[in-house]
Amino acid sequence: MEFSVHTANPAKAETACLAVPVFNDSELLPAVAKLDDASERLISQLVESGDFDAAVGNTLMLPFAPGLGTERLLLVGLGAREKCKDAAFLKALDAAASALIKLPIDEACLAFTDVPLEDRDSAWKARKVMEAGERALYRFDTFKSQPLPRASLQRFTLLLSESDEAEQAREGAHIGVAVGQGINAARTLGNLPGNICTPRYLAEQAEKLAAGSEGRLTTEILDEDALETLGAHSLLSVGHGSREPSRLIVMRYQGAEDTTEAPHVLVGKGITFDTGGISLKPGEAMDEMKFDMCGAASVFGTVTAVLAIKPRLNLVFIVAAAENMPDGAATKPGDIIHTLKGLTVEVLNTDAEGRLVLCDALTYAERFEPASVVDIATLTGACIIGLGHHATGLLSNDDDLALDILDAGDTAWDRAWHLPLWDEYQEQLDSNFADLANIGGRPAGTITAACFLSRFADHFPWAHLDIAGTAWHSGKQKGATGRPVGLLTQYLLDRETDVQVENSDD
Ligand code: BES
Ligand code: MN
Ligand code: ZN
Repeated sequence: MEFSVHTANPAKAETACLAVPVFNDSELLPAVAKLDDASERLISQLVESGDFDAAVGNTLMLPFAPGLGTERLLLVGLGAREKCKDAAFLKALDAAASALIKLPIDEACLAFTDVPLEDRDSAWKARKVMEAGERALYRFDTFKSQPLPRASLQRFTLLLSESDEAEQAREGAHIGVAVGQGINAARTLGNLPGNICTPRYLAEQAEKLAAGSEGRLTTEILDEDALETLGAHSLLSVGHGSREPSRLIVMRYQGAEDTTEAPHVLVGKGITFDTGGISLKPGEAMDEMKFDMCGAASVFGTVTAVLAIKPRLNLVFIVAAAENMPDGAATKPGDIIHTLKGLTVEVLNTDAEGRLVLCDALTYAERFEPASVVDIATLTGACIIGLGHHATGLLSNDDDLALDILDAGDTAWDRAWHLPLWDEYQEQLDSNFADLANIGGRPAGTITAACFLSRFADHFPWAHLDIAGTAWHSGKQKGATGRPVGLLTQYLLDRETDVQVENSDD
């Protein structure tokens, strides 16, 4: 979606639709008060009469706006002034964006950058407006004979009252578009069915991203022969029961001035379908295991955002892709496999396959001598029991890294919650026959899964994001959410500031 930034009297703004935020008290925001004055108190009368209930996320479309430059006026409720925090603001933005895309217009103007929010500047607000617009425009109708109706909306004009904030707003809007597009790219990969989105399909996506990157992204795809030669038997063991060959996908982005600067690495779980293997899952909702590559999808989505934002950072993106199927050649419970690191694993449950592909990918990441490694995985059902569908699970071997990720999640409003990774949990993985088992029993399933990964992440600051509860919606709204592309992109952008701070220190 395109955008522009304008500082003008909102009453004079000539646009197809002007969307304005309204608190549920009688006091209007300064820009909205100007509109009110110019329209014979149209807005305040609607609020006072109760014709517009300005509860958070309520909207009212006025097809005429006498006295104003705009053709239509969209009132958007922000609720109570004292309760208007990030969550209310974002809910109102989503409501505004979904109302706007339904209109037969190609351009709309929004006056949300003046809403007072603690610790949020115009750049942040502009970013969120654009992100909401991009997300609202998303359609997934590739497989529908009748395409879903397309919105005609193509441009948001952000209306500012302070002209000195225009530049920040523009920068924020640019990031918002990039993140929104990254989120939508992740949603599409997630939504694609397992018969289309295979490990080879994911590898092709990496090649396409590299081909369109003007040389800024390079890819290396390791096929099964290469993985065999390397010794990545744990990753390979997961795909043994599948007709679809496994892949380790590596993408590199070299944006730092210093080409030797240590990269930040993202590693995504790319199980393109998880039947559970020989430890077969029950049938109910098994279709949703096509979403078991949403960690990988979030890595691709972040690559998409990074290519648009062009941060001055060195980055490596790794996707461990396999399909987990039962078959005569499949790994069986009790089988012992050799990981790339050299540790042996007793596979007590073939449904705990994510950690088996990730452990080899983490070992592979060591060769880049990373500044940090973050893996993203739909790893455990237990994470849904513990945190539900709002927070992503966060576990880390480095408390500073964990805090950086929590911060990024807060800024992006794509939040995570820190769980303990104490040594005491490690013994749940003891095996009588190998170096470790791939499951740790029922207690603290999310933590023991992370404990397993931690054994392969001892050479760098590492964090693990369990997105089992946040990567997709079930039920009527079934579909991938694109989380945690917002968090990951923010985490990486914040690292660029780290470098600037370090440089200015010396
Ligand atoms: N992909 C699943 C985790 C999952 C299940 C995510 C349901 C979202 C919804 C993962 O591969 C898995 O099957 N994990 C097992 C681990 C267990 C066998 C230790 C689980 O959570 O049941
Ligand atoms: Mn599984
Ligand atoms: Zn899985």
